[in-house]
Amino acid sequence: MVSGSLARLASEAVGAGGWSFAQIAQRLSPAVFKFQEVVADRASGSYVWTTDGRKHLDFASGIGVLSTGHCHPHVVSAIQQQAGEIIMAQQNILPASKAMVALLQRLERIMPSSLTSHFFCNSGAEAVENAMKIARNYTGRQNIIAFDGAYHGRTYGAMALTTSKTVYRQNFGPYPSGVNVAPYPYCLHCKTRQAAGGLGYEVAPNVPPLGKPYAERQCCGGPQEALDWMLKMHTAPSETAAIIIEPILGEGGFLTPPPGFLTKLRELCDKHGMLLIFDEVQCGVARTGRWWGHQHLTEAQPDLLLFAKGIASGVPFAGISARPEVYSKMSHGMMGGTYGGSAIGCAAAAATIDVIEGEGLLQNAAERGQQLTRGLLSLAERYPIIDVRGRGLMLAAEFGQKQPDGSLRAEPGTASKLTHAAGRRGLLLLGAGARETVRFLPPLTVSSGQVEEGLAVLEDCLQEVLG
Ligand SMILES: Cc1ncc(COP(=O)(O)O)c(C=O)c1O
Repeated sequence: MVSGSLARLASEAVGAGGWSFAQIAQRLSPAVFKFQEVVADRASGSYVWTTDGRKHLDFASGIGVLSTGHCHPHVVSAIQQQAGEIIMAQQNILPASKAMVALLQRLERIMPSSLTSHFFCNSGAEAVENAMKIARNYTGRQNIIAFDGAYHGRTYGAMALTTSKTVYRQNFGPYPSGVNVAPYPYCLHCKTRQAAGGLGYEVAPNVPPLGKPYAERQCCGGPQEALDWMLKMHTAPSETAAIIIEPILGEGGFLTPPPGFLTKLRELCDKHGMLLIFDEVQCGVARTGRWWGHQHLTEAQPDLLLFAKGIASGVPFAGISARPEVYSKMSHGMMGGTYGGSAIGCAAAAATIDVIEGEGLLQNAAERGQQLTRGLLSLAERYPIIDVRGRGLMLAAEFGQKQPDGSLRAEPGTASKLTHAAGRRGLLLLGAGARETVRFLPPLTVSSGQVEEGLAVLEDCLQEVLG
């Protein structure tokens, strides 16, 4: 069992360096949400230890960052070695480092074939900002279509594209203009589906062997139609630069669009000369059991693919992989950044890719994902879980109950109560989206025993919160 299940309440937790947690917190911005009152001490694999002596099973992975787990020895040694050789090869002054070449060679193996030109930066939001610049510059058009429930980051451009929760935007306006938000298919809550009695969506993932084949999932077609109307009523194709989408919606609730949806976006973009941007910051880098989340859903390739989080196992690193053509109208100096493509980041990213390949983590993500899904489906038989969804180790359970009118309703605060109950028992979990959803993002190295351990703690929490 996870140690610390009887640990003291967070308010009593001790700090570090002779300071209590309260003394530390009073020196930190209160605007940053603090899940629990703990101070990280050290971490290894799927576990984190805090200075109060507690051990935590990490099913949040730094919000999907720790693809190879905490402090994977190969990644640590690559960082250490790089730090002794060159830490900073500034990209304007020293355009490449040996570590960057190593990374470029690996990206050639794992990226969709048409995305052969790479730009490196430091965070997902920075990748999004740069993608907006590329799209506007290449097309000479202003508007961007984003999707309801998307999360693209906290900087102004990215925030304007973000609608997963009001807290990310409230009181920060005005936002940059030119953003149009289209509906993202949330089939579980689709009113047309409810009126038609289900349309093939049920509490079972759309992935064999645990659920129906994805191709059999039906859709009322509403969101696709809304996009067509958006291009007739809100933003003319001639002024629309790009469509940006998370192929599997992250912060917004781990939603997978119905079959054909991403392919339709590709067709629309081809038809109207718009760029298709896949934001794979959360669903990319093997998280779903394939290198890129969209590869479960479509043969189509985007014009730009954004990555961050899992790429460098915790070292800030991000990038855009693109069709080279999209830079044809850029001149030197139009993009950049002091730290982009840092040697340390490149070394960590190259080592991360080596570990994912060398340790068979794509397969582990798929297999452990199935195990976790099976466990969640079994819990759904006893607790009010209305959906289990996702791919690989990007999984979510949504809570609620069917109402007499066919709609689904959840007790407000369920997800938060559950994640906090889990936190008290030493299991790190996160909520997702504005509805009552809990997401599971264990490291891709997670073992079968650790999945069982997490499920057992989760069941205790369900018992405590939902009875
Ligand atoms: C899909 C997606 N895009 C962009 C971002 C922003 O990334 P960052 O926090 O590195 O700026 C996130 C972060 O959660 C994300 O999930």
